Amino acid sequence: MKTDARHQQFTLRPGGEIRGKITVPGDKSISHRAVMLASIAQGTSYIRNWLAAGDTEATLGAMRDLGARIERQDASTLTIEGGPLRPSPNPLNLKNAGTGIRLLAGIMVGQPFASTLDGSEQLRRRPMRRIIDPLTRMGADIRAANGCCPLTIRPAALTGAHYDMPIASGQVKSALLLAGLYADTPTTVTQPSPARDHTERMLRAMGVRIDQEDEAGNCLTLYPGGRLEPLDITVPGDPSSAAFPLVAALLVPGSDLTITGVDLNPTRTGMLDALAEMGADFAISNRLTQAGEPVGDIQVKSSALRGVDIGGETVVRMIDEFPILMVAATQAEGETIVRDARELRVKETDRIAVMAAELRKLGAVIEEREDGFRIVGPQRLSGGQVDGHDDHRIAMSLTIAGLVAAEGAIVTDAACAADSFPGFAETLAGCGALLLPE
Ligand code: S3P
Repeated sequence: MKTDARHQQFTLRPGGEIRGKITVPGDKSISHRAVMLASIAQGTSYIRNWLAAGDTEATLGAMRDLGARIERQDASTLTIEGGPLRPSPNPLNLKNAGTGIRLLAGIMVGQPFASTLDGSEQLRRRPMRRIIDPLTRMGADIRAANGCCPLTIRPAALTGAHYDMPIASGQVKSALLLAGLYADTPTTVTQPSPARDHTERMLRAMGVRIDQEDEAGNCLTLYPGGRLEPLDITVPGDPSSAAFPLVAALLVPGSDLTITGVDLNPTRTGMLDALAEMGADFAISNRLTQAGEPVGDIQVKSSALRGVDIGGETVVRMIDEFPILMVAATQAEGETIVRDARELRVKETDRIAVMAAELRKLGAVIEEREDGFRIVGPQRLSGGQVDGHDDHRIAMSLTIAGLVAAEGAIVTDAACAADSFPGFAETLAGCGALLLPE
């Protein structure tokens, strides 16, 4: 399955101060979960500030193919009439969305009909054994060539299992919990460290019993049966999207930016912790709870950063932020070392290798390591042409690098930014960045 050819490039110039007050689009992880869970709930769900972006639209399309009744008041406001799913006439196309395919697989293994889950060429290269193996242990019938999609799923009776996840992954944990809804006995999942917990929060709010043995939620047991209540939520701003304007403001002198309504779930705030350690000047205000998630406004000012050493539990709490952290590290005084981040190699791209190669084109010196990298700064980025590799977070990180490169930069294959952050270029340009989309 192919995604549409998407050609766009951004031209960046240094010097434009980043100022003002912005919002970022709704959280991608929560938006995927909301559209899936509302579709299988009993009753009408109302979802506001839903992320209308490439990845989540793919999930919404798949749920419609499965018979979900989804009405849109506007792009981000959804009313979903939940109920039983029905067979899709065609293979479900999750495009580039790893979260979409892995979580939906957890739901599809519990359905009384067969389905095929597929996606873009890029998605077809990503590992699916991490969900296939534990779901199969629960009794699921999944076929896949070489552990990759397309996944062919046939109806099978599921029994709850106890699964010790070898890696901390929000997607794997969620796939198992969702399959657990359809099992005849409870499902227990343990994780080596706390991966994002949006699925647990949402399922509990919908009336599902999930017990946890420890405060961190590293050992969870989901009890099947009972009604799945509908949702009525406003999705908070995505902290992973906020990271791009935030780092831009830190790096461009004279900046002072406020990003309002950002999700501050502790399983997602590793980047803020790392930046605080690097000496970033930011403050959080207006804390509240929204959609069962802690939320707040972040005000950030340009700062002289210093290097940081990151490994262990922090890694999973900022797994999507390493491409932009690499950019920040080139501008920080001293050594930044990242360890235990091997997972970066199996994201939309091998994010360690791709970021190192692209930043080198701008003049950066990056030491690539098997499970991370080492960067000694501050470095002068000269300028040049770099490529987004159809990976949204790579394209957006390189855009921010272009804003601090002495001669500016051109980022080709940049349209993929819209997989998670529609309006990325306009948002940045709107607060002063010298960015020209073409
Ligand atoms: C996600 C989990 C993470 C993250 C991805 C979204 C989720 O992936 O990188 O962008 O929504 O559960 P892994 O579970 O593979 O770590």
